[in-house]
Amino acid sequence: MAIASGNGVETVRIAHELVTQEKLRPVSAAVRGVAVVEADPNDMSVGYGGLPDEDGKVSLDSACMDGPTHNAGSVGAIQDIMHPAQVAERVMDATDHVNLVGDGARRFAIEQGFRPENLLTERAEEIWKRWIAGRNDDDRLWPLNDTNPADPVLQGEPRPWGTIHCSVLAPNGDLGCCTTTSGLAFKIPGRIGDSPLIGCGLYCDNEVGSAGATGRGEAAILSGGSWLIVEKMREGMHPREACLAALRRVVEQTERAARWQPALWKDGRPSFGLTFYAVRKDGEFGSA
Ligand code: GLY
Repeated sequence: MAIASGNGVETVRIAHELVTQEKLRPVSAAVRGVAVVEADPNDMSVGYGGLPDEDGKVSLDSACMDGPTHNAGSVGAIQDIMHPAQVAERVMDATDHVNLVGDGARRFAIEQGFRPENLLTERAEEIWKRWIAGRNDDDRLWPLNDTNPADPVLQGEPRPWGTIHCSVLAPNGDLGCCTTTSGLAFKIPGRIGDSPLIGCGLYCDNEVGSAGATGRGEAAILSGGSWLIVEKMREGMHPREACLAALRRVVEQTERAARWQPALWKDGRPSFGLTFYAVRKDGEFGSA
């Protein structure tokens, strides 16, 4: 079984085929599955074509986790490499480290045979230039996610914290997962989100299940969301209930944090989007 965020329909098909027919381990099936979205210039929240940071540089975050070995690898704020999930897999398999960031991650990727290339498409650059022209300092305190069609920068497209997550359950019950993203559009250079952080944007435990997140990374980080979901499934919750439990935790934490007032609507509820996905070892799955 393979599950993914809504931008992962093709990813799921590929990952399922790889894990059933090619007998790839689930983590590798997830990494290969998300590659199609990383290479898609029309998905402006992942890989090639992703919206850049404040400086106009596309900077990518990714991680993967392997159930049977309970090992993981990640890259944060890596530039010029189209498939950061595959670099994360190399960090997991070819080093004793879990996280590599920035220029070190880029150098490691090149050393591993990945080709550096320009990931900024003309469309993404045009949107970034409009953002630069209308930039306002409050943006660093609370990055508005304006989906108003009249918005002069994104013209109705959400300012993405978008991402793709994929979790895979192999026929033998082994689990693996992967999350990959270009992160928040127009972020401060060097910002990493939840996607490269184990326990936040993804987590799996081979005895229990696998989970991941898309949406506002800061909320997935501050809640330890993916780890929490796996622990809730360990306690016996259905994956959908576990995802809802993590979202309830995020709501409570957001309401408590006074400095996050801009993150609340007037009725006191969080104004941002965050989605969790989970699959349990017995094949039950859900999201919220
Ligand atoms: N969830 C992706 C990010 O916040 O970077």
